[in-house]
Amino acid sequence: MAEVGMRPPASPLRRRALRALRWLFTPLRPDDYLELINPLWSTRELRGRVERVEPERGGAATVLIRPGFDWVGHRPGQYVRLGVVIDGVHHWRAYSLTSSPDRADGLISVTPKRVDGGVVSPFLVDRVHPGEVVRLGEVEGSFTLPDRLDRGLLFVTAGSGITPVMSMLRHLAPGPGLRDVVHVHSAREADGVTFGDELAALDEQHQGFRLELRITGEDGRFTPADLDTLCPDWRERETYACGPGELLDALQSHWKRHGDAGRLHHERFQPIVGGEDAEGSGGTVRFAHRNLDADCPPGTPILVAGENAGVDMPFGCRVGVCHTCVLPIREGRIRDLRTNAVSEKHNEIVRTCVHGAEGRVTVEL
Ligand code: FES
Repeated sequence: MAEVGMRPPASPLRRRALRALRWLFTPLRPDDYLELINPLWSTRELRGRVERVEPERGGAATVLIRPGFDWVGHRPGQYVRLGVVIDGVHHWRAYSLTSSPDRADGLISVTPKRVDGGVVSPFLVDRVHPGEVVRLGEVEGSFTLPDRLDRGLLFVTAGSGITPVMSMLRHLAPGPGLRDVVHVHSAREADGVTFGDELAALDEQHQGFRLELRITGEDGRFTPADLDTLCPDWRERETYACGPGELLDALQSHWKRHGDAGRLHHERFQPIVGGEDAEGSGGTVRFAHRNLDADCPPGTPILVAGENAGVDMPFGCRVGVCHTCVLPIREGRIRDLRTNAVSEKHNEIVRTCVHGAEGRVTVEL
């Protein structure tokens, strides 16, 4: 069976050498000197240099980046937070990595689609130039392939939902990974399919890979019931889906009613946070410096609990990607409202927009 999703090793020698430099310069900061030699040699934060920008169909562009020495690699399907300075203002956004982790040249890529009226995506698609240095946050995400492929795969994607799956396909293509794969992809227009040529080439070159392209402007919208025709053995396959929330909701309820929900893996660009079905009993958030207690019912983020109590809370995306809302938790149990996982915190930083209180929680604010 194919081994997939292995982490590529970073160069430990280079990493050790730069860490040693950090120790030698302490308490001064070596970065000011290192940056004169190479702007990617920061010991404080991970950076990358834009190498190329390749236009893609559908108003997107692939930005190829050479990451700095501390890049530890990614698993296909994960995303990275990207920091850019636009007109003097720092912005952070999360993008799925579209590159295979096995690229021989060591480059990584993201493929944002231009959002009209947006700030970061138009910058990355139209304005960023080779040589520009960007900041790289942590690689995150559990939308990843299993280590062993024991059964056939089904990918269901729509629009920009192709991006994490493209990393998976590029990773699988050189080995035996595409020997039994069906990919149902929806796009609005035939000439606007991002990665359309590469997907068609995979379909042509790999006998075990079948692309079912649904052009919604001509064929109508894809529904889960269509799978009985497009991929009759869908129940037997490990399925990876990424696309708009309505599509993922429909797939989830279809798998619950007619399949095995455990075999459907999905990636939401907008996570579901809390809501009516929220678990847990909620709690109280104490804002220590304000000497104020805020009620935090089940499914309510600490951010919202603070706002409801009149606290001026920091926030950005409100969906757990930008880290603008982070605050130190002095003590208490918190619930991740996306996964329902509960953890005990003691002087740790958390994202208040996606965590609720589980009992009494004290925040340093
Ligand atoms: S992570 Fe962006 S506001 Fe919380």
